[in-house]
Amino acid sequence: MANEKTLILVKPDGVQRGIAGQVIGRLEATGLRISGMKLLQISDELAAEHYGEHVGKPFYSGLVAFITSGPVVAICLDGPGAISIARKVMGSTNPAEAAPGTIRGDLAVEIGRNVIHGSANEEDAAREVALYFSEDELVDYTRAIDDWLIE
Ligand code: RTP
Ligand code: MG
Repeated sequence: MANEKTLILVKPDGVQRGIAGQVIGRLEATGLRISGMKLLQISDELAAEHYGEHVGKPFYSGLVAFITSGPVVAICLDGPGAISIARKVMGSTNPAEAAPGTIRGDLAVEIGRNVIHGSANEEDAAREVALYFSEDELVDYTRAIDDWLIE
């Protein structure tokens, strides 16, 4: 699998509920590497850039109000197939349809409070990682366990 970077957000509901650690732990347990992480409150401008694809949809204003309502944890994860592996661990967008064992399936009930964001594809991932992290905020490092995770 090609090495990829993906942008993860623990959304304001996840931070307020005190489950950010659990969410991050589930992602870490896959073996993907954390190469950037910070707590921030998303501005209206950043929300509009991030969710530009949803402008005009009925849920757009609620989505922006929600994502800016409190701090988020932004994480850059990388590794082979990072984008699709993170999406698999997150589960379907609507927690009511998300499989047991996934973050949304186990830890959420409604689509508007679904705890986590993850980039959908390579193009979105590149754009979103650059929205949240400058080059010098991303750290490239070797883990002693890498040979046991990546062939
Ligand atoms: P995300 O971008 O947050 O990782 O989620 P996603 O790709 O699975 O879903 P997307 O279609 O990009 O939608 C972004 C977020 O908007 C909210 N949403 N609400 N009420 C609705 O019908 C509706 N549809 C989407 C969700 O919080 C979703 O995560
Ligand atoms: Mg999306």
